[in-house]
Amino acid sequence: LIWMSSAHCDERLFQGSQGQFPITQNVTVVEGGTANMTCRVDYNDNTSLQWSNPAQQTLFFGNKKALRDHRIELVLASSQELVIKISDVSLSDEGQYTCSLFTMPVKTTKAFLTVLGVPGRPEITGFTKPAMEGDVIALTCTTPGSKPAANIRWFRNDQEVQGTKEANATGKSFAVRSSLQFQVDRRDDGVAYTCSVEHVSLPNPYMTTEVLEVHYAPHLEITHSLIIPQEGHYFKLECVSIGNPIPEPVLWSKDGGELPDIERMIVEGRELTITTLNKTDNGTYRCEASNHLGTSSAEYILFVYGGYCNAAKHLAGVSFVSTFPSMSLCLCLCTDPNALDQHGPDHALIGGVVAVVVFITLCLIIVLGRYLARHKGTYLTHEAKGAEDAPDADTAIINAEGNHVHAEEKKEYFI
Ligand SMILES: *[C@@H]1O[C@H](CO)[C@@H](O)[C@H](O)[C@H]1NC(C)=O
Ligand SMILES: *[C@@H]1O[C@H](CO)[C@@H](O)[C@H](O)[C@H]1NC(C)=O
Ligand SMILES: *[C@@H]1O[C@H](CO)[C@@H](O)[C@H](O)[C@H]1NC(C)=O
Ligand SMILES: *[C@@H]1O[C@H](CO)[C@@H](O)[C@H](O)[C@H]1NC(C)=O
Ligand SMILES: *[C@@H]1O[C@H](CO)[C@@H](O)[C@H](O)[C@H]1NC(C)=O
Ligand SMILES: *[C@@H]1O[C@H](CO)[C@@H](O)[C@H](O)[C@H]1NC(C)=O
Repeated sequence: LIWMSSAHCDERLFQGSQGQFPITQNVTVVEGGTANMTCRVDYNDNTSLQWSNPAQQTLFFGNKKALRDHRIELVLASSQELVIKISDVSLSDEGQYTCSLFTMPVKTTKAFLTVLGVPGRPEITGFTKPAMEGDVIALTCTTPGSKPAANIRWFRNDQEVQGTKEANATGKSFAVRSSLQFQVDRRDDGVAYTCSVEHVSLPNPYMTTEVLEVHYAPHLEITHSLIIPQEGHYFKLECVSIGNPIPEPVLWSKDGGELPDIERMIVEGRELTITTLNKTDNGTYRCEASNHLGTSSAEYILFVYGGYCNAAKHLAGVSFVSTFPSMSLCLCLCTDPNALDQHGPDHALIGGVVAVVVFITLCLIIVLGRYLARHKGTYLTHEAKGAEDAPDADTAIINAEGNHVHAEEKKEYFI
């Protein structure tokens, strides 16, 4: 007496113990691998099992080998099971295999052997030498031998881009091709285009990368080391150039001619250094560079100021110099605008900041003035020697001794 689940029971009733069918499984194997073909029956009265191939040739009858193919071997033959293995599987081995149970009549079950074709390493063609900006190029990635057809994806650096796709059957496998067409510009220079081949037979996609080289004409810009160049200061201009090939050499000129003072104006690579600025250095400075695609230039207009206060006054259009008539004192306070912003002169902003600072300082000075009135010391008069008689504040600064002594400090007080 045998107890069975109802599903199992139905199956048995339907097939009958004599009419049972062998049980097989579909097998999927990667080209070159080994496929185990298993066939079994639940109950057997010593009837023989047989495996045959898609061409209906008998491979094994029980434990007896029927076809002369060294790749096909017996794994297990018992009354209930017949297992064979096919090694070094090729695409032509794919198809429907049949397991037969030699009862009367013969009962057969099919098992499908699927062989996966492994794609070849992808190859990118269509780009060899450097491209010129504006060229239209077509990158083509091909991979042969996949089954089913592999999937090709394109990446521009890490960003996926869409290409066209085409697959041709060659025998049982596919040659897959994907193309990408675009117009190159300077942003493509040094960009990596990767072709990625994905396939069910590959644990990780195959990748091939091509790094583009794009040539383009130069573009120049001049950067400067000080927002407000002042007399006596060290000043540096840099000719920042982009272009491929890198534009060289950099030529400097002033007002359309050669640099006038080679002693103070030192050219080193892309940099022009003026060791001590002089008002006579005012003018238009120009740098020029070229590569085989063209020439470019940039200009910088230099305007040398006399000192902080003059510069600030000029830029902001506000007078920072105040007098205390009652005390016969002149005050000038400026913050160093070069310390505020190295990137570009924002005259209004600098002026506004300085104006506020001056206003606050004026208030402070009133308080301080009272204090100083009691402690009037030698250094006050010493610093301002010559300043008292000046008709206006500018002259007072110019007249005052020690004007340049404090030129490098962020704040100056002339009292
Ligand atoms: C095939 O059978 C052999 C012998 O039993 C076993 O070693 C191997 O792992 C099996 N291969 C697969 C793919 O099941
Ligand atoms: C199958 O054959 C073996 C020996 O060949 C025998 O011992 C066994 O009884 C047989 N079984 C059946 C169900 O006929
Ligand atoms: C086996 O593969 C064949 C053909 O691809 C399919 O028709 C069948 O349903 C599969 N059988 C099983 C049990 O997956
Ligand atoms: C597919 O076949 C067409 C026509 O023969 C051919 O032009 C094309 O290059 C082939 N594509 C591939 C990926 O082999
Ligand atoms: C600026 O140049 C003139 C003429 O070369 C020179 O007399 C003067 O001393 C220079 N000024 C400074 C601050 O170097
Ligand atoms: C240079 O510019 C300054 C700033 O206004 C001016 O005072 C000076 O006279 C100029 N010098 C020459 C030689 O143009």
